Amino acid sequence: MEKILVVGSGFMGSGIAQVSAQAGYQVYLMDIEASALERALEQIRWSVERVYAKGLLKESPVSVLTRISAEKDLSRVSEVDWVIEAVIEDEGVKRTLFQDLDRISRPQTPLATNTSSIPITRLAERTSYPERVLGLHFFGPVPMMGVVEVVKGEKTSEEVFERGVAFVHSLGKIPIRVQRDIPGFVLNRIFSAAFREAVDLVDQGMVSPEEVDIGMRLGYGWNVGPFEIADNAGLETCARVSQSMRALGETLLAPRSDLIERMVAEGRLGKKSGRGFYQYSPEGKRLPK
Ligand SMILES: NC(=O)c1ccc[n+]([C@@H]2O[C@H](COP(=O)([O-])OP(=O)(O)OC[C@H]3O[C@@H](n4cnc5c(N)ncnc54)[C@H](O)[C@@H]3O)[C@@H](O)[C@H]2O)c1
Repeated sequence: MEKILVVGSGFMGSGIAQVSAQAGYQVYLMDIEASALERALEQIRWSVERVYAKGLLKESPVSVLTRISAEKDLSRVSEVDWVIEAVIEDEGVKRTLFQDLDRISRPQTPLATNTSSIPITRLAERTSYPERVLGLHFFGPVPMMGVVEVVKGEKTSEEVFERGVAFVHSLGKIPIRVQRDIPGFVLNRIFSAAFREAVDLVDQGMVSPEEVDIGMRLGYGWNVGPFEIADNAGLETCARVSQSMRALGETLLAPRSDLIERMVAEGRLGKKSGRGFYQYSPEGKRLPK
């Protein structure tokens, strides 16, 4: 059985661990915060049971869950076939982590990052085998989203890139091949351009978030509006992505206004904190206004 180490057990890492275990991989899920690991295991159990109830699993939830173990350090890295990094969107934290992973992993193990906006090439620079570093950019909630961008860094080898494509297929998802390491890759660039405009229009008082979301659903056939997507993703992550886009000179891909940063400062982090653009019950159900 192939083994995977997922580093970071937040919104994305827990989802990546779940879909990997559902696909038959042995998963080690690591986080520096014990409480984050606890929350992740709870969330995964709940979600696997839902997938099972919908008739989408060939085995019992218990047998899927036995393939996931919580880890408090990186020591499993020397045993695994894949490493997927999903820690906070902070270049310094990710660069240090890649340096550590490079030192203690087997040189042939692919090191994937789930970053939304940090160049793959900059993370690969910290490793002695940059050809094995690639982007695997999942979408959240991972168990529900059917697509993953597979992103080539400047030095990613063709072989590792193709292994990434095959890995995404093995999870039952569709890979989007991104041939160059451009900021935001492809789908985030397109979303960020729309989101930038939506945030600026709301901050200028032109329209409400609800109306934008309704408009994009009914006018453009989006399944979910941009503010609903942002609340699900977490506004802290959105703010960090905007900061990296600005730092990379991609001003068209980050709101001009600091509305999201102000909301984060007030503790409005989206669904995870019960309040973002919308309000949520403790179970994450959206509450009427
Ligand atoms: N939220 C989204 O919708 C989304 C979508 C695609 C990609 N991403 C990317 O995925 C990554 C994770 O995002 P998230 O929304 O899951 O964030 P999150 O805040 O929910 O989780 C991040 C986790 O990383 C842990 N962590 C921090 N430093 C660590 C370290 N050195 N080692 C191990 N664990 C560490 C934290 O304790 C936390 O549990 C980010 O790079 C983000 O840009 C997010």
